[in-house]
Amino acid sequence: KKLVTIVGARPQFIKVAPVSRVIRQHCEEILVNTGQHYDFKMSGIFFDELQIPRPDYDLGVGSQSHGKQTALMLQAIEEVLLKENPDGVLVYGDTNSTLAGALAASKLHFPVFHIEAGLRSYNKRMPEEINRVMTDHVSDLLFAPTETAVRNLALENIRDGVRVSGDVMYDAMLYNSEIAKNMFGDALHGMKSKGYYLCTIHRAENTDNPKMLGAIMQALAELEVPVLLPLHPRTRKLLSTYGLAELLSAKSNIHIIEPVSYLEMLVLENEALAIITDSGGVQKEAYFARVPCFTLRSETEWVETVDIGWNMLVDPLTMDLKSLITAYQQPAYQEGLYGDGRAAHKITADICAFLGGDTHR
Ligand code: UD1
Ligand code: UDP
Repeated sequence: KKLVTIVGARPQFIKVAPVSRVIRQHCEEILVNTGQHYDFKMSGIFFDELQIPRPDYDLGVGSQSHGKQTALMLQAIEEVLLKENPDGVLVYGDTNSTLAGALAASKLHFPVFHIEAGLRSYNKRMPEEINRVMTDHVSDLLFAPTETAVRNLALENIRDGVRVSGDVMYDAMLYNSEIAKNMFGDALHGMKSKGYYLCTIHRAENTDNPKMLGAIMQALAELEVPVLLPLHPRTRKLLSTYGLAELLSAKSNIHIIEPVSYLEMLVLENEALAIITDSGGVQKEAYFARVPCFTLRSETEWVETVDIGWNMLVDPLTMDLKSLITAYQQPAYQEGLYGDGRAAHKITADICAFLGGDTHR
């Protein structure tokens, strides 16, 4: 059986690594990289470090407006699918690469398999929310990481093809944490173990509004513990556009570095005193690492981490990050919110069963 897998952005490279490793034991996999992310530190570094197979197709779409980027992907993916004539198409998460893959495949009547299905923020101003809803509605197999995601799908009358798989990012973390410790154990970019906050910011609703980005930077600057900020290129560009970069260079507690590799990131997450982020993946990794997380958003798809008290939503415009971090009391930890680390095996077994293949869970 032949699968076409479509990826293109940083979190998708991290998710495809554990799944591809298992799927290739049972199916032929053709890997398509849309090129949505293209800087070495947003793309190539993950292929090298996580030993992801070389893409069979590099579409080189790059940065564009939403419409143009999705359209270019759609056109190029359609050509690949017509040429490869696969038995199914695998897409991950909620980026424009996910939507383009799902749309191109479903219009050509190829079965669509969606990993990380059923996530909802219920905020339709997020581009990711549009991408997820659309992708779920054209998918044939929907791999939900949690029961919450299954319920979200049921609320939209999607029941057929829904499978609870657990989260492939947990698989990735379990596979790589020892490797990460051995490779980057004390490489903390000048920070001391448990002596810094690790921060990432890239979400459009936080970066595209100068008032919001200014409020976030101000809130970080007020913290009494150093903040290590591996900066997404989107945020770097907008800080400079808004003239906030100069303000930052005067604030000595914020240490801006280039985006780091996944293995470095796992170490930095583990050693942080707390994590401050608007990333979906990083919220879960904070929970895996048992490090408190402060999410700079008004809502999250990963509600379980908030429910157990290890993740706190902070609206930078109306809430005071410094006093919330200072007052934070760590509750008891609850294991197992995102599966047992065998999501890739479950997904592979379900795909093989769907395609009439030969493996079982
Ligand atoms: C995308 C996803 C988002 C995901 C994030 C992961 C969509 C709509 N958004 O957001 O869901 O959380 O990836 O990181 O698909 N840029 C570079 N170099 C790169 C990549 C991007 O300089 O290698 C800059 C460009 O100025 C670009 C901007 O970042 O315009 C935004 O990139 P884009 O891929 O459109 O969205 P992200 O913010 O990365
Ligand atoms: N990540 C990384 N280097 C960084 C920042 C993040 O390797 O400098 C990893 C992080 O550990 C997680 C993934 O990227 O596995 C999350 O991707 P991102 O925050 O870009 O997107 P999101 O999850 O919000 O869609």
